[in-house]
Formats: sequence, structure tokens, C-alpha cells
Amino acid sequence: MLAVNGVFKTFNRGTVNEKTALHNVNLHLKEGDFVTLIGGNGAGKSTLLNCIAGLHEVDSGSILIDGKDVTKLPEHKRAGILGRVFQDPMEGTAANMWLEENMALAFRRGQRRTLKWGISGKERELYRTLLSRLELGLENRLNVKVGMLSGGQRQAVTLLMAILKRPKLLLLDEHTAALDPKTAAKVLALTEKFIGQEKLTTLMVIHNMRDAIRFGNRLIMMHEGRILLDIEGEAPSKSSPLRTCYSVSGRPAEPNLPMTASFCLEFFSRKTAGLFPSGGAGQKDDNQGKGKYCLPLPACAAMFHQSDCDKAAPAGG
Ligand SMILES: Nc1ncnc2c1ncn2[C@@H]1O[C@H](COP(=O)(O)OP(=O)(O)OP(=O)(O)O)[C@@H](O)[C@H]1O
Ligand SMILES: [Mg+2]
Repeated sequence: MLAVNGVFKTFNRGTVNEKTALHNVNLHLKEGDFVTLIGGNGAGKSTLLNCIAGLHEVDSGSILIDGKDVTKLPEHKRAGILGRVFQDPMEGTAANMWLEENMALAFRRGQRRTLKWGISGKERELYRTLLSRLELGLENRLNVKVGMLSGGQRQAVTLLMAILKRPKLLLLDEHTAALDPKTAAKVLALTEKFIGQEKLTTLMVIHNMRDAIRFGNRLIMMHEGRILLDIEGEAPSKSSPLRTCYSVSGRPAEPNLPMTASFCLEFFSRKTAGLFPSGGAGQKDDNQGKGKYCLPLPACAAMFHQSDCDKAAPAGG
């Protein structure tokens, strides 16, 4: 569904501000993949999404969406096959337009422009039904200016607008980061619901390690423009080693585990210390020597907290 092949992107080349934001990034998403993407500030997450969306041209490499090479395609020509939600709730909707007009914009995206801009009763009914999926009562507020909605309401509407035409690929860039925790949780739950119902192929940048593990079927970690980790597997269930470790250690899942170099170092030192099985049943490390590891998610998650378990439940105890 998505193929990012050997993509490099450097900003301000040849100046003191030169910055290689993407360094030989290879990423392949299968249809229906729901991938969470984590990494520290400046890791290159947004740059990767922006390159996929066509906001930035890549220096080299190629990007294919649904088998079509879009590397040279301008942003507006990719818009029809992509859904996007950004971090800023102000970005995805038109504040000075009514809610029903925003819905109509999203609904008519990719259609031929006509002078007929009226919204029919039938359309209005459809928008009401769609908005009711948000469970925010917005179906009764079609004639409110979107600028009057709260950040969370706006982000929920943006999400709905992004999936309205069932995009080939949904790109979410920390779309809940600007919301208060309760609203963020609600928008994330909606996100999961929509992705599940519509079976959308999704790449979701998220800064919270716990959510990154909780959502999706695959987790990718970026650091300094490279993909360091690519963990594929089932989302951890209640009985997974991850949960077990948390409950054994009596410590909640770290809500904001810093995705820093030291975190990555810790990961790799544990791997080299033998805490990470290499090879063995169910293991996949198809990119050996390139700094990318594929481990089943529960196994990997357990490894992150192995030391906590050791402390709380000494061997033999
Ligand atoms: N338009 C730009 N011009 C110049 N440099 C840029 C531009 N966009 C990103 N960069 C640089 O590229 C690097 C990667 O930035 P990017 O925004 O992709 O990081 P990120 O992983 O999304 O970080 P954050 O978690 O802070 O959002 C950073 O060093 C950033 O300063
Ligand atoms: Mg970013």
C-alpha cells in the first residue's frame, strides 16, 4: 500500500543550517496496517509524513502509494488518495465556514468543481449521520462556524473529514498532542474506531510510548532521520508480558517515556547483552546489519521492562 524506498531529505543543503532529516528511510506498509511512529524531537517523523504527502520533495529515493509512483507528484495531486490530520486543531478545518460547509468541502474533494454550491437536504442528512459517529452532538450544529468549536471537537471533525472519502492512506501527525488528556483520549478512541471500521492503512505519529504500543499492529521508532526499530505483532493483550511487567513492578506504564538517544542506546545495549533474543521462533530480523530490528511486539515490550520484572520478582521467587 505504501512503499518508501531509500528516501533521503536534507534541508538547507550547503549552509551552516544543513540538516539531514531523512537518511535512507525504507518503509513498507501493507494494506490495513496501522502503524504507530515514535521518536524524539527532530527525529524526522513529520518530515517523513510530509514527504509522503508531497509537502516536501525528496532528494532521492521513491515513494509509491497503492502501487503508483507519487515521488514527483505535487501535494494537491496526492490529496485525493490521502487523509491527513495535523497536530494543530486550527489547521484541518476552515474556521470561518459553517460545519456543513466544511463537511461539503471534504465530501466533494476530488470532484469536479461546479458553480452549484448549495447543500441539498439529502446531503445535509448524510452529514448529520456522519457527524453522529463522533458522538459529540455535532449533528445538531450544522450551522455553527467551525471556529466556534473547541479544539477537541475540531480535531474530531478534521478526523471525520479526513476519512470521509476512504483514503488509501491516513497520515496522523501527533493529532492529539494539543488536546487536554481527556479530550486526547476521546479523539484517539475515535481514531481507533474509524480505522478499525474502515480498515484504513494508517501511519500515526504519537509521542506517548504507552499509546504507541497500545494502538496499531506495528510500531516504528525513528532517531536522527533513520528507522531504528520496526516491531510488528499483535497489540499487547491484557495478559501480555508488557502488562504483566507493569503490574509486577507496581508502576504504571510510563506515559511519556522520553524517546531519546539514551533510550535507543538502552534498547541496543540490552540486545547486545543478550536480553533480546535474536533469531528463534517467530523472530524476524530481515534487515540485519542495517540498524533495524523486527521483533514480535509482546516479546519486545517485555524486554523493555525486563529489569523491572527482575527487581520485582527475583528469579526463583
Ligand atoms: N522546513 C524545514 N526547514 C529546515 N529544517 C527542517 C524543516 N523541517 C524539519 N526540519 C529539520 O529536520 C529535522 C527533523 O524535523 P521533523 O519535524 O521531521 O522532526 P519530528 O520527528 O517531527 O520532531 P517533533 O517530535 O519535534 O515534531 C529537524 O532537525 C528539523 O529542524
Ligand atoms: Mg513532528
